[in-house]
Amino acid sequence: MAYGLLKGKRGIISGALDEKSIAWKVALKAKEEGATFTLTNAPIAMRMGAIKQLAEQCEAEIIPADATSTEDLEKLFTQSTEILGGKVDFVLHSIGMSPNIRKGRAYTDLNYDWFKQSVDISALSFHKMLQTAYKLDAISEWGSVVALTYMAAQRTFPFYTDMAEAKAILESIARSFGYHYGKYRKVRVNTVSQSPTVTTAGSGIGGFDKFYGFADAMAPLGNASAEQCADYVVTLFSDLTRMVTMQNLFHDGGFAMTGVSEEVMGMMQGKE
Ligand SMILES: NC(=O)c1ccc[n+]([C@@H]2O[C@H](COP(=O)([O-])OP(=O)(O)OC[C@H]3O[C@@H](n4cnc5c(N)ncnc54)[C@H](O)[C@@H]3O)[C@@H](O)[C@H]2O)c1
Repeated sequence: MAYGLLKGKRGIISGALDEKSIAWKVALKAKEEGATFTLTNAPIAMRMGAIKQLAEQCEAEIIPADATSTEDLEKLFTQSTEILGGKVDFVLHSIGMSPNIRKGRAYTDLNYDWFKQSVDISALSFHKMLQTAYKLDAISEWGSVVALTYMAAQRTFPFYTDMAEAKAILESIARSFGYHYGKYRKVRVNTVSQSPTVTTAGSGIGGFDKFYGFADAMAPLGNASAEQCADYVVTLFSDLTRMVTMQNLFHDGGFAMTGVSEEVMGMMQGKE
């Protein structure tokens, strides 16, 4: 059911790689709620072609941009405002990649060049997006910027390796930039800490399947799906959440606040 929450709003949605991507679901939901937006992803991801299908469905133009390049980001914001006919009201940062995870390096054996890439792609890109938008004054007053994160920023999940550091920086950027953008244009900046979700980035993490089941058994509401994440993100883009900023918001069915569940205790005792 659509509520028209984003009627008349313009935005930029990054990170839709395929139909499993969280950003893909956000795009569909934003469209359903009345928004117009541009889609963006790294030029290399474009070649896989799936984003074109989403663009058609959403009547959106695609602007390729490597999120680590400020030049690309400048083009992204400039072209988006031209195409959409004005400043943007919302931006989704849904970008993450760790070469160390991809290549199976343990946390105690990290390759530091790759570590820098993980941080550049997964965290500094958020600062670069915000700084580019700030300098171009490309986001409207009371606009909303959301980045997706994971709870390994607060607690240790051994298999998440250097992405834990990247997410901690990402969440810190939301607080720091949230202050400055709030003062400047009343733009709010938040991170959404999502449950494990079956996507290309998610499934690339070692032991993901078992962990997905564990998190599902731990959270009283179970794991939140990508569609449910999209529902939540859309509320954060809407005018109903205007005074929420500089927050890390858990969207995880209660996982973050649960010490242990009866299901997990049962698993330890060899029960179903
Ligand atoms: N899947 C999960 O379990 C989970 C849980 C919590 C948070 N998240 C976060 O959600 C976000 C989206 O991930 P997803 O799970 O939808 O996976 P995904 O693989 O579908 O999306 C990751 C996206 O990052 C893009 N990307 C990588 N390098 C880039 C670059 N240099 N420039 C621009 N884009 C680039 C990829 O092309 C891809 O579209 C990530 O920040 C991820 O860490 C995922």
